[in-house]
Amino acid sequence: MAADDDALDALAQYALRYVKPGHTIGLGTGRAASAFILALGASRIEVRGVPTSSASEELGRSVGIPIVTLADAGKIDTDFDGADEVDPRLNLIKGYGGALVREKIVAASSRRFVVLVGEEKLVPKLGHRGSLPVEVIPFGAPLAMAQIKALGMKPRIREIDGKEFVTDNGNWILDCAVKKIANPARLDRDLLAIPGVVGTGLFIAMADVVLVAESSGKIRALRR
Ligand code: A5P
Repeated sequence: MAADDDALDALAQYALRYVKPGHTIGLGTGRAASAFILALGASRIEVRGVPTSSASEELGRSVGIPIVTLADAGKIDTDFDGADEVDPRLNLIKGYGGALVREKIVAASSRRFVVLVGEEKLVPKLGHRGSLPVEVIPFGAPLAMAQIKALGMKPRIREIDGKEFVTDNGNWILDCAVKKIANPARLDRDLLAIPGVVGTGLFIAMADVVLVAESSGKIRALRR
């Protein structure tokens, strides 16, 4: 069962211990990241935020967090974001919300990457929930779909209300039906080698800390 709002609020409050005045903070996308952005705004700690999506930019501004571009930020101190799956090595699948490319750029630009999840996101192997998001340039979608099929997955163009879902980068998402992934790093390389693939939802060896909201109400910190 997905973590409820109270659990995500508790997780967000806990995560504030990683924030110091003057920090530049990566603002993730999704329910857990939104709970964090709200808590950060309410804390009045003086920080700047680099958003991973137009949604997180809007939310950050609405709670008074000064927003800066990645170009102006230079290095980001800590990025806070959710995830769709976390394996025992703290490799992740992200992108069910469609913001994976900017999320990966912001995470890779950060000194520390803190991931916020409910315990339902912990999986023995990536692919457990059966889907891997991949962002593609629309022009390249037919080729990418054929090559993804050849890799053994079943891609489907993500739609909302009968129309292609368009990312903040003007691209499409292929939701690739997948079985448990034996070698996530190799699959990531194979996908990135396809012309027109902009990014994958595989975040390999990127998370430094995963904060898990347990159903007991406790918060567990997992470190890589
Ligand atoms: C957005 O593209 C995603 O990567 C989210 O970070 C991820 O889907 C987790 O979102 P929730 O916190 O809403 O589950």
